[in-house]
Amino acid sequence: AEDVPVITIDGPTASGKGTLADEVGKALGFGVLDSGALYRVTGLAARRAGLNLDDGAAVAAIVPTLDLSFREGHVYLGTEDVSARLRAEATGLLASQVAVHPAVRQALHQLQLNFRQLPGLVADGRDMGTSIFPDADLKIFLTASAATRAERRYKQLISKGVSANIESLREDLEARDERDKNRSTSPLAPAQDAQLLDNSALTIEASVAQVLDWWQTRRPF
Ligand code: CDP
Ligand code: CDP
Repeated sequence: AEDVPVITIDGPTASGKGTLADEVGKALGFGVLDSGALYRVTGLAARRAGLNLDDGAAVAAIVPTLDLSFREGHVYLGTEDVSARLRAEATGLLASQVAVHPAVRQALHQLQLNFRQLPGLVADGRDMGTSIFPDADLKIFLTASAATRAERRYKQLISKGVSANIESLREDLEARDERDKNRSTSPLAPAQDAQLLDNSALTIEASVAQVLDWWQTRRPF
């Protein structure tokens, strides 16, 4: 797997990681791993099973039982398309609650490594460059101001027909960022060798161009 190139994109909520990962993946013909979706599915399944989300061992134990599949940008749990449910901010909060447990992170580790396939992978999340793919060829830490992120997430939810309130969204995003930064296992933090990219004032196209530029100067030939 080490000879399969990987680009990692980590950063806080709604900084644009998923969009950037999809566009860079498309441009290079690489696969894309949305690692947040794995934590979201785990949080949702744990809640549905009535588990205590503070019980890391119990939550981790359901991971191998999840019948997950990814098809055309949709996520299925068994035969149910849970994509819309996963996007809700309430599910993001469930994800960040289960993500604090080392046992849950361990249970999802190999699943994430399996996405590393030729011709290459773009992986987005919180710990892609620090824990999952420490040998990645290019690591990006993507940020944007909290106000920008709340507004982006608001517009994104509304456009997908999910109702949202911008004030409570901003509070939820900040609460989630705090939990992600302060947990003891794989907290949200830039890898030492990450390129920092603040895209508060950048278009998606400009951010994609910057990453492709970095990629051109780094590829080993
Ligand atoms: O994956 P993450 O939560 O970091 O963010 P995302 O879902 O990729 O982006 C959140 C929203 O911000 C999306 O609707 C993007 O289209 C938008 N966005 C933007 O307007 N300008 C950017 N430079 C980056 C993202
Ligand atoms: O799209 P957004 O940035 O809002 O969230 P996400 O990437 O879907 O991640 C949801 C939650 O899962 C995060 O707030 C983290 O608590 C957790 N997560 C994580 O701990 N490690 C990852 N690699 C990805 C997500």
